Amino acid sequence: MKLVKTRQELAEIVTQWQREGETIGLVPTMGSLHEGHLTLVRALDGKATRRIVTIFVNPIQFNNPDDFRLYPRGLEADEALLAQTGLVDILYAPDETQIYPPGFSTRVIVSGLDQMLCGGDRPGHFDGVATIVTKLFMQTRATIAAFGEKDYQQLSIIRRMVTDLDLPITILPVPTVREADHLALSSRNRRLTATQRTQAAQLPLALMACLAALKAGNPIPASLDTCTRALEEAGFRVHYLELRSEKNLAPVEKAEPGARLFVAASLGDVRLIDNMPLS
Ligand code: PAJ
Repeated sequence: MKLVKTRQELAEIVTQWQREGETIGLVPTMGSLHEGHLTLVRALDGKATRRIVTIFVNPIQFNNPDDFRLYPRGLEADEALLAQTGLVDILYAPDETQIYPPGFSTRVIVSGLDQMLCGGDRPGHFDGVATIVTKLFMQTRATIAAFGEKDYQQLSIIRRMVTDLDLPITILPVPTVREADHLALSSRNRRLTATQRTQAAQLPLALMACLAALKAGNPIPASLDTCTRALEEAGFRVHYLELRSEKNLAPVEKAEPGARLFVAASLGDVRLIDNMPLS
């Protein structure tokens, strides 16, 4: 695995690869890697002849400067984890000058899907995501890229963008990887205190209980209310808890297959998100 830090060096390598008929698979990340990220890397095995993982903590997708500042970083540990998989050809870890040189003024906006769920309390967040992901697609010239269902709204927005802009890339969705107590793996979990980490396990449990209530035929509003109260009692500040369509993220009237439960809730200043399908 080679560590590449400039877009120029990356361009030279991928040009050579393309000449040799190689195909390129991509896993974009913000680093602080865990088993969830490594699962995306493994999902590309056999789907491209070369694999690139990118690590870039993208300033334009953070609406809170403290969140950007406090985002966990550790390139050496990340490099070691990726090398151990034996599946990564390039770790591309550019600095800001390689991505947003002076004068940079373009944004990719996927309207509609970016207003709901996390878009509501994180204005501009998904514009930042769509913009960096487009740039990483172009810089790496990948033909397939893996994204986690953990960030289901992000996945939906990227699929929409790829369709709308005719981007020549396949999006590979990967199911959420969880801890033994069902908490979804996330770089942000590292910011939880020991007590908060114990509390955090209530988040997936509450979602599972809510899904069971919905499947048993309980009305949607009452089931969501009960789940919200359970989370608040467990110490969470609930930003949203909604049942929406997997297809277009529209609210659903009936608890039927194709519906998915979405939540964002905070413990202290750590904001956690999760989602689970009804079936
Ligand atoms: P990051 O949070 O580092 O996540 C990188 C990728 O890993 C995303 O596709 C995310 O959905 C996936 N992922 C994270 N936790 C996961 C889990 N527990 N199970 C499965 N997949 C998981 O998402 C971003 O970075 C950024 O927004 C990015 C797309 C890189 C743009 O900056």
